Amino acid sequence: MWIPTQEQLSLRSSRDHIFNVALFEGFHSSDFCEWIEAHARNRTVLVVTTPTVERLYGDEIRAAFACVGLKPSWLVLNCTERTKTMKSVLTVCRAASDAEIDRRGALVAIGGGVCSDIVTLAASMLRRSLSHLRIPTTLIGQVDAGIGLKGGVNFGDAKNYLGCFHPPDAVAVIPPLLKTLGVDTVRQGLAEMIKVACTSDTELFRIIEEARGGVLQSWILDGDSLAHEPIQRAIAAMLEELSKNPFEVTSHERAVDLGHTIAHPLEASTHYELHHGFAVAIDLAFSSVLGWYLGWLREETALRVVDLLVSVGLPIWHEHLNEDLVTRSFRAAAKHRSGDINMVVPIDIGRYRFLKREDQCPPGMILEVLTYLRARSWQEGMSHSGSAQYGRELSAEGNLARIGLQ
Ligand SMILES: NC(=O)c1ccc[n+]([C@@H]2O[C@H](COP(=O)([O-])OP(=O)(O)OC[C@H]3O[C@@H](n4cnc5c(N)ncnc54)[C@H](O)[C@@H]3O)[C@@H](O)[C@H]2O)c1
Repeated sequence: MWIPTQEQLSLRSSRDHIFNVALFEGFHSSDFCEWIEAHARNRTVLVVTTPTVERLYGDEIRAAFACVGLKPSWLVLNCTERTKTMKSVLTVCRAASDAEIDRRGALVAIGGGVCSDIVTLAASMLRRSLSHLRIPTTLIGQVDAGIGLKGGVNFGDAKNYLGCFHPPDAVAVIPPLLKTLGVDTVRQGLAEMIKVACTSDTELFRIIEEARGGVLQSWILDGDSLAHEPIQRAIAAMLEELSKNPFEVTSHERAVDLGHTIAHPLEASTHYELHHGFAVAIDLAFSSVLGWYLGWLREETALRVVDLLVSVGLPIWHEHLNEDLVTRSFRAAAKHRSGDINMVVPIDIGRYRFLKREDQCPPGMILEVLTYLRARSWQEGMSHSGSAQYGRELSAEGNLARIGLQ
């Protein structure tokens, strides 16, 4: 009788996967039609988009598919932070099943980060792993959510608690789609751009700083091609960081987690009234001032970060922020990051280190940081509720009116 050795009872299981992020001028451009053809031809395809994107771009997207002879199945799904749940994932799965998407088929997510997170998770589950393409339509989508490897949904009071690593086949970034965003949605994307600039691209930080935010916002909202370089730089920096540890197996020390330790519990504590990018900005301000108070970051550099966030119109404080929330965030992060908090703390622009344990902060320091941020925020006359200024007043719909689409 053959008895296998211990070595023969093992299986090396890793996947090699490369995907490209390609930039296009619009849905009409011939190279975009070629992209669709290259990735969707001879496949059963389900497009998943959101009501706003459907209303703004539905006809153009259908025309782009039609120009290469394709007529995909279509699902318009309400994608908000509150509907970012397994129920939405199952709605996508049901639509894929109804559309008879086969094993070689693909889902296409066309929307913001919420849409791509839901579709990515659905694709990972369908037939145990289905291909998907992403066409992110928000700034957060184009520089962060849409170009990463993960999908996920909220569960109970935990953000992105259920999820997967499931990289897309390809991503199409079309910067002119950002013209129809609300000002606050652009600002949220800028928070993610400032984050990646802080850790990984000093030149990008300088570009955003020089543009004092407002100019960059105008370039984006006016569809000016001057916005392309900073967007491309942010994408490149993000991909570079992700490529170092794509499946988060080699380490839980990740530069891309800057701004993402307090942010998630803070968002959840407001029942997602506070939008993701604003929570990232607040976390980034906290991390920078903490770095200053710990003596890891020069005061003037910490203030450069805070000043930049403020100049862009991003919040640095929220009324739910207190010592208890910070402590809970640290503990939740440690559970997620193999025992250490691993909060990313800038030590210069382009350099950072990790706060590992709570006891690295002397007693009272967290309160001092919070006191500073609250005072500075009041001094700037900013809103602190997460909804009055950040979320409703400057809604996407408001900007549609601004450019005459409503
Ligand atoms: N998976 C990841 O790696 C990752 C990374 C970062 C963020 N995220 C997730 O992304 C989400 C935030 O993404 P978001 O900021 O794109 O939010 P979102 O998906 O909620 O979109 C924001 C708003 O923009 C509208 N919109 C989308 N495209 C538009 C367009 N072109 N014109 C006008 N309006 C448009 C949407 O209808 C929505 O109201 C969060 O849930 C966050 O957790 C995931």
